[in-house]
Amino acid sequence: MYRVTIQNETSLPEFRDHVRTLIGARIKPRDVTFSTAESADLFGETPPADRKVPAFTVPGAYVELAQVVLSHRDPARFALLYELLWRLLHEDRKLMSIHSDPLLHKLRHMEKSVRRDLHKMTAFLRFRKVEDDDGELYIAWFEPQHLILGAAAAFFIKRFANMRWSILTPDGTLNWDTNALSYGPAVPKAQAPQDDAMEDWWRSYYASTFNPARVNPEMMRSEMPVRYWKNLPETSLIPGMIAAARARTGAMLDTAPTEPRKNKSGDIVMREFFASDAPQVSVIAGTLAALRAEAASCRRCPLYGHATQTVFGEGPERAPVVFVGEQPGDQEDLGGKPFIGPAGQMFDRALAEAGIARPMVYVTNAVKHFKFVPRGKKRIHQKPNAGEVEHCRWWLERELTLIQPKLVVALGATAVKALIGKDVKITEMRGRLLTIRDGLTLVATAHPSYLLRLPDAAVKAAEYGRFVEDLTAVARYLPEIAKTA
Ligand code: URA
Repeated sequence: MYRVTIQNETSLPEFRDHVRTLIGARIKPRDVTFSTAESADLFGETPPADRKVPAFTVPGAYVELAQVVLSHRDPARFALLYELLWRLLHEDRKLMSIHSDPLLHKLRHMEKSVRRDLHKMTAFLRFRKVEDDDGELYIAWFEPQHLILGAAAAFFIKRFANMRWSILTPDGTLNWDTNALSYGPAVPKAQAPQDDAMEDWWRSYYASTFNPARVNPEMMRSEMPVRYWKNLPETSLIPGMIAAARARTGAMLDTAPTEPRKNKSGDIVMREFFASDAPQVSVIAGTLAALRAEAASCRRCPLYGHATQTVFGEGPERAPVVFVGEQPGDQEDLGGKPFIGPAGQMFDRALAEAGIARPMVYVTNAVKHFKFVPRGKKRIHQKPNAGEVEHCRWWLERELTLIQPKLVVALGATAVKALIGKDVKITEMRGRLLTIRDGLTLVATAHPSYLLRLPDAAVKAAEYGRFVEDLTAVARYLPEIAKTA
């Protein structure tokens, strides 16, 4: 028997990586158990991850279904999804359209339940205004049926982008500061404010989002049971709006319709919650593997749109030193690994000369997507701007928190900016040790791409020598990273 332990239960990239390994090792659904980090199963072997997995494709409809069903609370969902995938690959490629199939039917039912829960959260959640040291803060309490916090966050960020808000739930807390989302621990319901200050605001919000074409009193009653109506500020508006609905519907019919978005298989994509352009939501992953899996679908800034993939850091989970570059280049973008192109080759050579074993250190970038402009067949590197660096700090901070290195080496000014939030010239920082937080020291040196660009051979050789000296100082500071052979 094999066992798979899921770190981030709702993460599609993590699930995809696990099932890829299982498919690659030809492990049948009945020979594997799935559990989460909290309920980790101690029995069974970990599936062999070293096999070369042959490329395979999966119908888009399966991916969409899996993305939603992963938010269902039923612990059996991973096994059910894997069984469906196995059958799609080994029995019937058309299985996604056989609606009478009991397994597909069950999964569709689970999908519906998650969607209904998302709808309820976005429709019935009520914010209350409070004041804290930073001004107005809107707080809401909600008890979702499923694990939809991450998926729902995209909706609330879009709708209330300019408000600072917190959504408290028994599963955890979402906090939006108008710029970044953070995820905190669960809090008791008693901490949610109960006053009525927001009621007028809700009335106008509801009136402005009311869709007359959808008025169906029967359905409204089943979705929002009448016994709750008296507690919701906007319900006093409903009779008047129903009366006006016919006229407003006529006006809407006169307006040209917009084309619905379609996915690759031609299905209309109706979902706002999982829309590809929705702001990305991250939860705090407990391992580097889980963090990497999450970062694979990062959409915190627009750079993901043109890059091939997220290039996440690489190295041991407990590396004593982390090297931070600027952003992946052309080859890193294609290969999915940091520092493997020309700058990476120079970096490797300098590390070797300094006596550092690259497998002993963690190498990452301030920005995890390649930023470029196309010129003919070439993709020309563009320096990331302050906003992009700031958005991507989300990942770098978490890498550092999980790895807990003693030393972080900034390769170039962008890395310094990501680490201390300031524009500082490398010439001013070089050779100085700076404590940036408890137990973490920063040192800065040149970026290998800067060395590569120097036109004068003699200057280039001298600068390369200084770079190797800086790395040698790092090796002296941390003898545990020395090359053994
Ligand atoms: N330059 C960087 O800063 N990082 C890479 O990964 C490659 C080139």
